[in-house]
Amino acid sequence: MKKKILVAREIFPEVLERLAQHFEVEANQQDQIFSEAELAKKLAGKDGVFSTLSERISPAVLQACPDLQAVCNMAVGYNNIDLSAATAAGVLVTNTPEVLNETTADFGFALMMATARRVTESEQWLRAGKWDRWRFDGFMGNDVHGSTLGIIGMGRIGQAIARRSMGFDMQVIYHNRSRLDPALEARANNARYVGREELLKTADHVVLVVPYSPALHHMIGAAEIALMKPSATLVNIARGGVVDDAALIAALKEKRIAGAGLDVFENEPAFNRGFLELSNVVLTPHIASSSRNTRLAMANCAADNLIAALDGRQPPNLLNPDSAGKKQVQ
Ligand code: GLV
Repeated sequence: MKKKILVAREIFPEVLERLAQHFEVEANQQDQIFSEAELAKKLAGKDGVFSTLSERISPAVLQACPDLQAVCNMAVGYNNIDLSAATAAGVLVTNTPEVLNETTADFGFALMMATARRVTESEQWLRAGKWDRWRFDGFMGNDVHGSTLGIIGMGRIGQAIARRSMGFDMQVIYHNRSRLDPALEARANNARYVGREELLKTADHVVLVVPYSPALHHMIGAAEIALMKPSATLVNIARGGVVDDAALIAALKEKRIAGAGLDVFENEPAFNRGFLELSNVVLTPHIASSSRNTRLAMANCAADNLIAALDGRQPPNLLNPDSAGKKQVQ
């Protein structure tokens, strides 16, 4: 008898077909958003779930679904899942690392450039029919080439952003939980390890790529923004909550920094509407990994993990090896 899974959001039909060869699948191609209670109901009697960052896999959901053996998230981040509760419940949890590194780095670089060179702000002005003459100071921005790039969170995506900066003759400084191996620093445009405060004071463009954890909540708030240069840009492709959005809005309003490029927000998609009042911010709806090839690779990676997990094999991207064996996979 086939095992039962829930695919919690709409996904590529070809991935759904692949999953259907292995499992009895309850799909959600209408793309409903489930509340925690609805999710728990849908997961009753299921062996696994193909989840995304919009489903909160809380202790209550895990407790309500004793049959659940695997939660396979289609994202590299997994702060939507209570990992320790899943481990305690013997539920395998996986993510989709690696496949999105280069695409996400492309987007981080694009957001930095769009923000520094005021691309979306000037386009909106043009679309509003305001362009009637050339001006010597038309939408003057700040240079990307030759500037100092500060990367907070120097994992694989951070390193991929640093490599891109070579073509722009940038100097790279970074801050991370621990210093990288010198060989990796050399590959990442000779990135130099510095303290967070020095990075914020020195960088012309600060890019955040840290995975979210409660310890990093509001890692960038009013005090940290106050350290940045007035000409600096701040780019967040990490997670909402890493930046104190209300403090950032106040700083942008007073032009304490030049601009921000944001792909992630606190409480998204119901983000702080104060951003909409500002012209010095580039706003995108959490799409950094969204190229067709990469999203398909992420979906297939999550499917591979689910197939392995429910087949009793170690899934390739297991996040909680301590959970294995606690629950008998039959
Ligand atoms: C996207 O934010 C992801 O974590 O994959």
